Amino acid sequence: MFLVNGRYADSISVLDRGLHYGDGLFETIAILNGKPLCWEEHYQRLAQGCDRLGLCCPPVDQLYAELRQLPLGPGRNVIKMILTRGQGGRGYQPPAADLPPTRILGLYPWPETSPEYPVTGVKIRICATRLGGNTQLAGIKHLNRLEQILARREWSEPDIAEGLMLDHQDAIVEGTMSNLFCITGSDLFTPELSDCGVAGIIRGCILRLAPALGLKTRIFKFGRTVLAAVDEVFLCNSLIGIWPVRQIEEQGYQPGPWTKKIRQELIRREMIAT
Ligand SMILES: Cc1ncc(COP(=O)(O)O)c(C=O)c1O
Repeated sequence: MFLVNGRYADSISVLDRGLHYGDGLFETIAILNGKPLCWEEHYQRLAQGCDRLGLCCPPVDQLYAELRQLPLGPGRNVIKMILTRGQGGRGYQPPAADLPPTRILGLYPWPETSPEYPVTGVKIRICATRLGGNTQLAGIKHLNRLEQILARREWSEPDIAEGLMLDHQDAIVEGTMSNLFCITGSDLFTPELSDCGVAGIIRGCILRLAPALGLKTRIFKFGRTVLAAVDEVFLCNSLIGIWPVRQIEEQGYQPGPWTKKIRQELIRREMIAT
């Protein structure tokens, strides 16, 4: 079920710049028993993205009211919220900056993945497709996702749950649909995203709550050799919550106690639904 600019509909204009150029942003939001999880954080990232792209961000109350117009509960559901720059003619130059963006809200069923993944962990691979750097686009969740699509086309084995993506300097950035964390001793670290990657909502939640759990946090660039020397590795996003990693290519890991603790804390604080 979809709402387009506040009305039930399932189509948009063929002139929409989201279609022509990927000129827009999106958020994927977990809904638990009618409640959108981390709503403030999702809206904040959307607003930051609007700022970077020069889009006019709809007021928080308007987007929240539209989200509430959809039949959200009970149980778990997903809302995908898309903002595009709206309709334009041919050519890249955007129309006047203060045109209201197109708002598309879609309600989706919760994705079916193995219920074992958050407990026993997942097997992942390293993708050949690289992420290009662009500080203007780094961190925001813009609609241009061709790099992730090329990377996701690299494998079809059902037992491989995710692929890691590197930049052109061989630094690990993130998964195709998730952020990566590593733990050694009581050090928790995750790749810096100043050149590329999506600054995930759950990544942000983890970085904020980790010190209270007794973890030191670090954000820096590192390559794949680091993965050989860490105790625990996990992936996160708004829908998967946390997946411990049990294998990257030939390297094996045990789903560890810190990963379990972080996941339990996120569930307790209603930041993730699974
Ligand atoms: C490329 C990419 N990185 C990271 C994430 C994690 O983002 P979030 O925690 O906001 O769901 C996603 C989520 O879909 C993603 O597509």
